[in-house]
Amino acid sequence: MLDARMIEIPVELGARRYLISIGHGLSAMLPELLKRFAGRRSMAVASRRVWNLHGSRLARAFRDLGITARVIVPDGERYKSRATLNKLHDEFLKAGLARDGLVVAVGGGVVGDLAGFAAATYMRGVDWIPIPTTLLSMVDSSVGGKTGVNHPMAKNIIGAFHQPKAVVVDPVFLETLPRRELQGGAYEVLKSALLGDRALFRSLRDAPPGLVGWDHKEMENAIASSCRIKAEVVEKDEREADRRRALNLGHTIGHALEAATDYRRFTHGEAVGWGIVGVSWIAMRREMLSESAFDAIAAAVDRLGPRPRVSDIPAPRILSALKRDKKMRQGRVHFVLPDGIGRVVIRPDVGENEIRSALRVMAAREARMARRG
Ligand SMILES: NC(=O)c1ccc[n+]([C@@H]2O[C@H](COP(=O)([O-])OP(=O)(O)OC[C@H]3O[C@@H](n4cnc5c(N)ncnc54)[C@H](O)[C@@H]3O)[C@@H](O)[C@H]2O)c1
Ligand SMILES: [Zn+2]
Repeated sequence: MLDARMIEIPVELGARRYLISIGHGLSAMLPELLKRFAGRRSMAVASRRVWNLHGSRLARAFRDLGITARVIVPDGERYKSRATLNKLHDEFLKAGLARDGLVVAVGGGVVGDLAGFAAATYMRGVDWIPIPTTLLSMVDSSVGGKTGVNHPMAKNIIGAFHQPKAVVVDPVFLETLPRRELQGGAYEVLKSALLGDRALFRSLRDAPPGLVGWDHKEMENAIASSCRIKAEVVEKDEREADRRRALNLGHTIGHALEAATDYRRFTHGEAVGWGIVGVSWIAMRREMLSESAFDAIAAAVDRLGPRPRVSDIPAPRILSALKRDKKMRQGRVHFVLPDGIGRVVIRPDVGENEIRSALRVMAAREARMARRG
């Protein structure tokens, strides 16, 4: 092992097995960490913003690895597009990237999904390595091999499974991440805790609001635990037939909130945070969660920081967004419900009255948060 303090999480996918390496300062050690890839013709794909903030540090490591070609991608979900994908393929060709080429993606989930898909589709698939720079991409999008771009009519609709060869997670990047983005990723960490890690749940309860300034070791452990949970799910169900659905905890209501507000009001994570409160309430009404477990979960969500309002979104809008979701899945919305803390079950029979009740409780939590300032 390169550094005794580094954490390594294996993703066991047979021939496609790879390691997620996590450690503060790891990006400075890339030449050692990725030694086995040195000498291959490679191309870095980086977010403009991240490169402006961290490029000087990375450029040196890349040079030592022999990665001199680089393409900078503008920031924003709208650049996760076919147009940017074309540009990447152009640049790969110009750089002379061949079948044994390597693509290294530096940025959040947008750059990861985009560069990973460009790698998946170039010469029927070349190797790629994400270096995620947002909390969400560290714990979620870099694990599992889903890559893709958006179509003007639908998000993530053009994509492929293409597992990376390695993932390098350096939490040092989080120091420049805007607070709201950090908080957004934190809800996904909380989701992982609810899926299967009570110790992670406890550590989140003791964390500073929004995880801002969290102790390095705690942050590394939390990222590692989240990656482990996702890796376990993906190992059992790489292509999302069934078990991978558990990862949607909080996302059914979350997506409906995002859609009902035209994707403008909430970050994805904030909507998921609300969704976690909602499904936990539904689980409590079904006597799957005790009242004190519900309180603990809702308090953990609230501790991560303020979230935009939900109380002024008309319930019919949210319900119709859920129904659209249902249509797309051939008639059934599957809700992932917490069954205690650290276990979930999937239920196809959550009724409109239960959802309405959850929305009322979310509005009540909002009022309570506002009173506390
Ligand atoms: N592949 C998957 O399994 C998967 C899973 C979840 C989400 N996603 C995708 O991930 C995307 C969202 O990812 P995201 O939340 O990382 O968004 P993002 O990539 O858009 O990054 C969010 C913002 O943070 C900035 N940023 C990134 N790193 C920074 C840093 N270290 N310092 C300062 N600013 C920084 C970016 O410029 C951007 O403005 C979506 O497109 C979503 O569909 C994919
Ligand atoms: Zn999510």
